Amino acid sequence: MFNDDTKKKDVKTPTIVQEVWHDGEFIKWDDARVHVMSHVLHYGSSIFEGIRTYKTKRGPAIFRLREHMQRFLNSAKIYRMEHPWALKELCDASVQLVARSGLQQCYVRPIMFRSLDEEHPAFGVNPFPNPMACYIGAWDWGKYLGDEAIEVGVDVCVSSWNRLTPNSMPAMAKAGANYMNSQLIKMEAIVNGYAEGIALDDRGYVSEGSGENIFLVHDGKVVTPPLASSILPGITRDSVIEICRSLEIPLVESGIQRAALYVADELFFSGTAAEITPIRSVDRIPVGEGRRGPITERIQKAFFEITSGEREAPGEWLTFVNEYKAAESDKPSSDNSASDKAHAAERNGHGTAHAREVSAAASKAADSGRDAIHVTLTE
Ligand SMILES: Cc1ncc(COP(=O)(O)O)c(C=O)c1O
Repeated sequence: MFNDDTKKKDVKTPTIVQEVWHDGEFIKWDDARVHVMSHVLHYGSSIFEGIRTYKTKRGPAIFRLREHMQRFLNSAKIYRMEHPWALKELCDASVQLVARSGLQQCYVRPIMFRSLDEEHPAFGVNPFPNPMACYIGAWDWGKYLGDEAIEVGVDVCVSSWNRLTPNSMPAMAKAGANYMNSQLIKMEAIVNGYAEGIALDDRGYVSEGSGENIFLVHDGKVVTPPLASSILPGITRDSVIEICRSLEIPLVESGIQRAALYVADELFFSGTAAEITPIRSVDRIPVGEGRRGPITERIQKAFFEITSGEREAPGEWLTFVNEYKAAESDKPSSDNSASDKAHAAERNGHGTAHAREVSAAASKAADSGRDAIHVTLTE
Protein backbone atom coordinates (compact mmCIF):
# COMPACT_ATOMS: atom_id res chain seq x y z
CA MET A 1 0.00 0.00 0.00
CA PHE A 2 2.84 2.39 0.85
CA ASN A 3 6.34 2.64 -0.50
CA ASP A 4 9.27 1.23 1.49
CA ASP A 5 10.28 4.68 2.69
CA THR A 6 7.47 4.65 5.22
CA LYS A 7 9.04 1.65 6.99
CA LYS A 8 12.39 3.34 7.44
CA LYS A 9 13.44 3.60 11.09
CA ASP A 10 13.16 7.26 12.05
CA VAL A 11 16.37 7.48 14.01
CA LYS A 12 19.50 5.42 14.45
CA THR A 13 19.45 3.65 17.82
CA PRO A 14 22.96 2.31 18.28
CA THR A 15 22.62 1.29 21.95
CA ILE A 16 19.73 0.30 24.17
CA VAL A 17 20.42 0.42 27.91
CA GLN A 18 20.00 -3.15 29.11
CA GLU A 19 18.44 -2.17 32.44
CA VAL A 20 15.11 -0.51 33.13
CA TRP A 21 14.16 1.24 36.36
CA HIS A 22 10.97 -0.19 37.79
CA ASP A 23 9.51 1.02 41.03
CA GLY A 24 12.76 1.49 42.89
CA GLU A 25 14.66 -1.39 41.31
CA PHE A 26 16.67 -2.00 38.18
CA ILE A 27 15.38 -4.91 36.15
CA LYS A 28 16.61 -6.43 32.90
CA TRP A 29 15.39 -4.87 29.64
CA ASP A 30 13.99 -8.30 28.70
CA ASP A 31 11.92 -8.46 31.88
CA ALA A 32 10.26 -5.07 31.37
CA ARG A 33 6.96 -6.46 30.02
CA VAL A 34 3.22 -5.96 30.53
CA HIS A 35 0.13 -8.15 30.16
CA VAL A 36 -1.71 -7.65 26.85
CA MET A 37 -4.96 -7.05 28.75
CA SER A 38 -3.48 -4.06 30.62
CA HIS A 39 -5.76 -1.01 30.69
CA VAL A 40 -3.13 1.11 28.95
CA LEU A 41 -3.07 -1.03 25.81
CA HIS A 42 -6.81 -0.77 25.31
CA TYR A 43 -7.58 2.74 26.47
CA GLY A 44 -4.33 4.67 26.03
CA SER A 45 -3.91 5.41 29.74
CA SER A 46 -0.24 6.32 29.92
CA ILE A 47 1.79 9.46 30.50
CA PHE A 48 5.46 9.72 29.64
CA GLU A 49 8.49 11.97 29.20
CA GLY A 50 11.42 12.26 26.85
CA ILE A 51 14.65 13.63 28.30
CA ARG A 52 18.07 13.98 26.69
CA THR A 53 21.41 13.35 28.32
CA TYR A 54 24.29 15.21 26.68
CA LYS A 55 27.97 14.48 26.59
CA THR A 56 29.97 17.18 28.39
CA LYS A 57 33.52 17.57 29.68
CA ARG A 58 32.18 16.84 33.16
CA GLY A 59 30.62 13.57 31.96
CA PRO A 60 26.99 12.90 30.97
CA ALA A 61 24.56 15.68 31.88
CA ILE A 62 20.79 15.33 31.89
CA PHE A 63 19.06 18.36 30.38
CA ARG A 64 16.36 19.98 32.53
CA LEU A 65 15.65 16.76 34.40
CA ARG A 66 13.61 18.37 37.16
CA GLU A 67 11.37 20.27 34.75
CA HIS A 68 10.70 17.12 32.73
CA MET A 69 9.85 15.13 35.85
CA GLN A 70 7.61 17.94 37.10
CA ARG A 71 5.73 17.84 33.79
CA PHE A 72 5.53 14.04 34.19
CA LEU A 73 3.89 14.47 37.58
CA ASN A 74 1.61 17.19 36.19
CA SER A 75 0.48 14.85 33.41
CA ALA A 76 -0.27 12.17 36.02
CA LYS A 77 -2.23 14.67 38.10
CA ILE A 78 -4.34 15.80 35.13
CA TYR A 79 -5.29 12.17 34.53
CA ARG A 80 -6.06 11.56 38.23
CA MET A 81 -3.34 8.93 38.46
CA GLU A 82 -2.70 8.15 42.13
CA HIS A 83 0.79 6.82 42.60
CA PRO A 84 3.63 6.73 45.13
CA TRP A 85 6.44 8.22 43.02
CA ALA A 86 7.92 11.57 44.06
CA LEU A 87 9.88 14.12 42.05
CA LYS A 88 13.17 13.45 43.76
CA GLU A 89 12.84 9.67 43.50
CA LEU A 90 12.19 9.94 39.77
CA CYS A 91 15.13 12.33 39.29
CA ASP A 92 17.42 10.06 41.34
CA ALA A 93 16.27 7.02 39.36
CA SER A 94 17.05 8.72 36.04
CA VAL A 95 20.49 9.75 37.19
CA GLN A 96 21.22 6.24 38.45
CA LEU A 97 20.01 4.70 35.20
CA VAL A 98 22.28 6.94 33.12
CA ALA A 99 25.20 6.30 35.49
CA ARG A 100 24.68 2.52 35.29
CA SER A 101 24.38 2.64 31.49
CA GLY A 102 27.92 3.93 31.11
CA LEU A 103 26.69 6.04 28.18
CA GLN A 104 27.88 9.59 27.70
CA GLN A 105 24.73 10.59 25.86
CA CYS A 106 21.28 9.06 25.68
CA TYR A 107 17.55 9.62 25.69
CA VAL A 108 15.67 8.83 28.91
CA ARG A 109 12.05 7.67 28.74
CA PRO A 110 9.98 7.59 31.95
CA ILE A 111 6.51 6.10 31.52
CA MET A 112 3.64 5.67 33.96
CA PHE A 113 0.52 3.73 33.04
CA ARG A 114 -2.53 1.89 34.21
CA SER A 115 -1.67 -1.77 34.33
CA LEU A 116 -3.58 -4.99 35.13
CA ASP A 117 -4.17 -6.55 38.50
CA GLU A 118 -4.04 -10.17 37.36
CA GLU A 119 -5.66 -11.51 40.56
CA HIS A 120 -8.53 -9.02 40.47
CA PRO A 121 -8.69 -7.91 36.85
CA ALA A 122 -10.80 -4.98 35.65
CA PHE A 123 -11.47 -4.54 31.96
CA GLY A 124 -13.76 -1.50 31.73
CA VAL A 125 -12.96 2.04 30.67
CA ASN A 126 -13.07 3.20 34.31
CA PRO A 127 -9.36 3.47 35.04
CA PHE A 128 -9.55 3.68 38.83
CA PRO A 129 -9.50 -0.06 39.68
CA ASN A 130 -6.26 -0.63 37.76
CA PRO A 131 -2.86 -0.52 39.44
CA MET A 132 -0.28 2.05 38.35
CA ALA A 133 3.09 1.05 36.95
CA CYS A 134 6.14 3.20 36.37
CA TYR A 135 9.29 2.43 34.38
CA ILE A 136 12.25 4.41 33.10
CA GLY A 137 14.19 3.15 30.10
CA ALA A 138 17.00 4.73 28.07
CA TRP A 139 18.73 4.41 24.75
CA ASP A 140 21.19 6.25 22.65
CA TRP A 141 19.19 8.15 20.05
CA GLY A 142 20.45 10.01 17.01
CA LYS A 143 19.04 13.10 15.35
CA TYR A 144 15.26 12.75 15.32
CA LEU A 145 14.55 14.43 11.99
CA GLY A 146 17.66 13.10 10.27
CA ASP A 147 21.40 13.70 10.60
CA GLU A 148 21.49 16.63 8.20
CA ALA A 149 18.30 18.27 9.42
CA ILE A 150 19.99 20.30 12.15
CA GLU A 151 22.03 22.18 9.55
CA VAL A 152 20.05 22.15 6.34
CA GLY A 153 16.52 22.04 7.73
CA VAL A 154 13.49 19.91 6.94
CA ASP A 155 10.63 20.05 4.43
CA VAL A 156 7.27 20.00 6.16
CA CYS A 157 3.57 20.32 5.36
CA VAL A 158 0.56 21.74 7.13
CA SER A 159 -1.43 18.72 8.23
CA SER A 160 -5.05 18.15 7.34
CA TRP A 161 -5.40 16.87 10.92
CA ASN A 162 -6.04 19.45 13.64
CA ARG A 163 -4.34 19.37 17.02
CA LEU A 164 -6.38 18.24 20.00
CA THR A 165 -9.09 20.61 21.17
CA PRO A 166 -8.49 21.85 24.72
CA ASN A 167 -11.67 20.35 26.13
CA SER A 168 -11.34 16.96 24.49
CA MET A 169 -7.76 15.89 25.15
CA PRO A 170 -5.51 18.20 27.19
CA ALA A 171 -2.42 18.92 25.08
CA MET A 172 -0.74 20.12 28.29
CA ALA A 173 -0.46 16.54 29.46
CA LYS A 174 2.13 14.40 27.73
CA ALA A 175 -0.21 11.42 27.49
CA GLY A 176 0.31 8.37 25.30
CA ALA A 177 -3.19 8.78 23.85
CA ASN A 178 -2.33 12.25 22.47
CA TYR A 179 0.16 10.56 20.21
CA MET A 180 -2.59 8.90 18.14
CA ASN A 181 -3.23 12.44 16.89
CA SER A 182 0.53 12.90 16.43
CA GLN A 183 0.70 9.64 14.48
CA LEU A 184 -2.01 10.79 12.06
CA ILE A 185 -0.05 14.00 11.47
CA LYS A 186 3.27 12.19 11.09
CA MET A 187 1.95 9.43 8.80
CA GLU A 188 0.24 11.90 6.50
CA ALA A 189 3.47 13.90 6.26
CA ILE A 190 5.63 10.82 5.56
CA VAL A 191 3.39 9.29 2.88
CA ASN A 192 3.35 12.66 1.13
CA GLY A 193 7.14 12.92 1.20
CA TYR A 194 7.62 15.38 4.07
CA ALA A 195 9.73 14.97 7.20
CA GLU A 196 7.06 16.34 9.53
CA GLY A 197 3.59 17.89 9.68
CA ILE A 198 2.46 21.08 11.39
CA ALA A 199 -0.99 20.86 12.94
CA LEU A 200 -3.35 23.80 13.28
CA ASP A 201 -5.51 24.21 16.36
CA ASP A 202 -9.30 23.93 16.26
CA ARG A 203 -9.58 27.65 15.29
CA GLY A 204 -7.13 27.33 12.41
CA TYR A 205 -4.12 28.88 14.14
CA VAL A 206 -0.73 27.20 14.05
CA SER A 207 -0.30 24.78 16.95
CA GLU A 208 2.77 22.50 16.76
CA GLY A 209 4.44 19.60 14.98
CA SER A 210 3.59 15.98 15.79
CA GLY A 211 6.42 15.97 18.34
CA GLU A 212 7.81 19.51 18.39
CA ASN A 213 6.89 23.09 19.22
CA ILE A 214 7.29 25.66 16.47
CA PHE A 215 8.88 29.12 16.23
CA LEU A 216 8.61 31.72 13.49
CA VAL A 217 11.01 34.61 12.83
CA HIS A 218 9.72 37.76 11.18
CA ASP A 219 11.50 41.11 10.97
CA GLY A 220 14.01 40.09 13.64
CA LYS A 221 11.29 39.07 16.09
CA VAL A 222 10.65 35.50 17.23
CA VAL A 223 7.02 34.38 17.58
CA THR A 224 5.68 31.14 19.02
CA PRO A 225 2.09 29.94 19.57
CA PRO A 226 0.72 30.32 23.11
CA LEU A 227 -0.49 27.44 25.25
CA ALA A 228 -4.02 28.37 24.15
CA SER A 229 -3.16 26.95 20.72
CA SER A 230 -3.28 23.43 22.21
CA ILE A 231 0.45 22.94 22.45
CA LEU A 232 2.51 20.83 24.80
CA PRO A 233 4.38 23.24 27.12
CA GLY A 234 7.73 22.14 25.73
CA ILE A 235 10.80 22.24 27.92
CA THR A 236 12.92 23.02 24.85
CA ARG A 237 10.40 25.74 23.93
CA ASP A 238 10.94 27.26 27.37
CA SER A 239 14.70 26.96 26.86
CA VAL A 240 14.42 28.81 23.52
CA ILE A 241 12.40 31.57 25.22
CA GLU A 242 15.10 31.92 27.87
CA ILE A 243 17.90 31.83 25.29
CA CYS A 244 16.17 34.59 23.29
CA ARG A 245 15.97 36.65 26.48
CA SER A 246 19.66 36.16 27.16
CA LEU A 247 20.60 36.97 23.54
CA GLU A 248 18.25 39.99 23.62
CA ILE A 249 16.24 38.67 20.69
CA PRO A 250 12.65 39.93 21.00
CA LEU A 251 10.13 37.10 21.44
CA VAL A 252 6.35 37.04 21.71
CA GLU A 253 3.82 34.28 22.27
CA SER A 254 1.00 34.94 19.82
CA GLY A 255 -1.57 33.24 17.60
CA ILE A 256 -0.04 32.51 14.18
CA GLN A 257 -2.09 32.23 10.99
CA ARG A 258 -1.24 29.39 8.61
CA ALA A 259 -0.35 31.89 5.88
CA ALA A 260 2.25 33.51 8.15
CA LEU A 261 4.26 30.27 7.84
CA TYR A 262 4.62 30.87 4.09
CA VAL A 263 5.95 34.42 4.43
CA ALA A 264 8.11 33.93 7.53
CA ASP A 265 11.81 34.82 7.29
CA GLU A 266 12.71 31.72 9.30
CA LEU A 267 10.94 28.80 10.97
CA PHE A 268 12.23 26.17 13.32
CA PHE A 269 11.04 23.32 15.52
CA SER A 270 12.05 22.79 19.12
CA GLY A 271 11.82 19.56 21.09
CA THR A 272 13.83 17.12 23.15
CA ALA A 273 14.08 14.68 20.26
CA ALA A 274 14.24 17.28 17.45
CA GLU A 275 16.37 19.74 19.52
CA ILE A 276 16.42 22.93 17.36
CA THR A 277 15.65 21.93 13.78
CA PRO A 278 15.28 24.55 11.04
CA ILE A 279 12.35 24.25 8.63
CA ARG A 280 13.35 25.01 5.05
CA SER A 281 9.97 24.68 3.31
CA VAL A 282 6.29 24.44 4.16
CA ASP A 283 3.94 22.86 1.60
CA ARG A 284 6.83 23.13 -0.90
CA ILE A 285 7.03 26.91 -0.39
CA PRO A 286 10.60 27.84 0.62
CA VAL A 287 10.96 29.52 4.00
CA GLY A 288 13.04 32.68 3.54
CA GLU A 289 16.13 31.66 1.59
CA GLY A 290 15.14 28.00 1.83
CA ARG A 291 17.81 27.16 4.40
CA ARG A 292 18.67 27.75 8.06
CA GLY A 293 18.31 31.45 8.85
CA PRO A 294 20.71 33.56 10.95
CA ILE A 295 18.49 33.92 14.03
CA THR A 296 17.75 30.19 14.09
CA GLU A 297 21.48 29.58 13.84
CA ARG A 298 22.25 31.90 16.77
CA ILE A 299 19.63 30.26 18.98
CA GLN A 300 20.70 26.78 17.90
CA LYS A 301 24.36 27.57 18.59
CA ALA A 302 23.57 28.88 22.08
CA PHE A 303 21.38 25.82 22.74
CA PHE A 304 24.07 23.32 21.77
CA GLU A 305 26.73 25.26 23.68
CA ILE A 306 24.53 25.07 26.76
CA THR A 307 23.72 21.36 26.36
CA SER A 308 27.40 20.54 25.89
CA GLY A 309 28.25 22.49 29.03
CA GLU A 310 30.36 25.07 27.17
CA ARG A 311 28.08 28.02 27.85
CA GLU A 312 26.44 28.98 31.10
CA ALA A 313 22.74 28.18 31.07
CA PRO A 314 20.18 30.77 32.20
CA GLY A 315 19.29 28.37 35.06
CA GLU A 316 20.40 25.07 36.56
CA TRP A 317 19.63 23.17 33.42
CA LEU A 318 22.25 20.42 33.52
CA THR A 319 22.31 17.58 36.04
CA PHE A 320 25.84 16.24 35.94
CA VAL A 321 25.45 12.52 36.46
CA ASN A 322 28.90 11.81 37.91
CA GLU A 323 28.78 14.71 40.35
CA TYR A 324 25.18 14.02 41.34
CA LYS A 325 26.05 10.41 42.03
CA ALA A 326 28.96 11.47 44.21
CA ALA A 327 26.81 13.95 46.11
CA GLU A 328 24.04 11.40 46.61
CA SER A 329 26.34 8.67 47.86
CA ASP A 330 27.60 11.01 50.60
CA LYS A 331 24.12 10.97 52.13
CA PRO A 332 22.80 8.08 54.24
CA SER A 333 20.51 6.20 51.86
CA SER A 334 17.79 5.62 54.50
CA ASP A 335 17.26 9.40 54.68
CA ASN A 336 16.50 9.54 50.99
CA SER A 337 14.01 6.73 50.96
CA ALA A 338 12.23 7.98 54.09
CA SER A 339 11.78 11.44 52.66
CA ASP A 340 10.72 10.05 49.29
CA LYS A 341 8.03 7.92 50.88
CA ALA A 342 6.83 10.79 53.02
CA HIS A 343 6.84 13.03 49.98
CA ALA A 344 4.79 10.50 48.02
CA ALA A 345 2.35 9.91 50.86
CA GLU A 346 1.91 13.63 51.22
CA ARG A 347 1.23 14.14 47.53
CA ASN A 348 -1.41 11.45 47.55
CA GLY A 349 -3.15 13.17 50.42
CA HIS A 350 -2.71 10.46 53.06
CA GLY A 351 0.39 11.62 54.87
CA THR A 352 0.74 11.77 58.66
CA ALA A 353 1.74 15.03 60.37
CA HIS A 354 5.29 13.66 60.61
CA ALA A 355 5.24 12.64 56.95
CA ARG A 356 4.11 16.14 56.05
CA GLU A 357 6.97 17.66 58.01
CA VAL A 358 9.54 15.37 56.44
CA SER A 359 7.99 15.94 53.06
CA ALA A 360 8.09 19.73 53.46
CA ALA A 361 11.79 19.55 54.34
CA ALA A 362 12.49 17.21 51.43
CA SER A 363 10.65 19.39 48.93
CA LYS A 364 12.43 22.48 50.21
CA ALA A 365 15.75 20.77 49.58
CA ALA A 366 14.62 19.38 46.23
CA ASP A 367 13.23 22.73 45.15
CA SER A 368 16.22 24.87 45.99
CA GLY A 369 17.76 26.27 42.86
CA ARG A 370 14.79 25.16 40.83
CA ASP A 371 13.98 27.09 37.65
CA ALA A 372 10.52 28.27 36.98
CA ILE A 373 9.11 27.02 33.71
CA HIS A 374 8.24 30.25 32.01
CA VAL A 375 4.91 29.42 30.58
CA THR A 376 1.72 31.01 31.69
CA LEU A 377 -0.96 28.43 32.14
CA THR A 378 -3.73 30.91 31.39
CA GLU A 379 -2.61 32.31 28.03
C1 LIG B 1 3.54 17.16 20.69
C2 LIG B 1 4.83 17.68 21.21
N1 LIG B 1 5.00 19.01 21.25
C3 LIG B 1 6.16 19.55 21.71
C4 LIG B 1 7.20 18.75 22.11
C5 LIG B 1 8.46 19.37 22.63
O1 LIG B 1 8.51 19.24 24.02
P1 LIG B 1 9.91 19.16 24.77
O2 LIG B 1 10.71 20.31 24.31
O3 LIG B 1 9.55 19.23 26.21
O4 LIG B 1 10.51 17.87 24.40
C6 LIG B 1 7.05 17.36 22.09
C7 LIG B 1 8.13 16.47 22.54
O5 LIG B 1 8.15 16.08 23.66
C8 LIG B 1 5.84 16.81 21.64
O6 LIG B 1 5.67 15.49 21.58
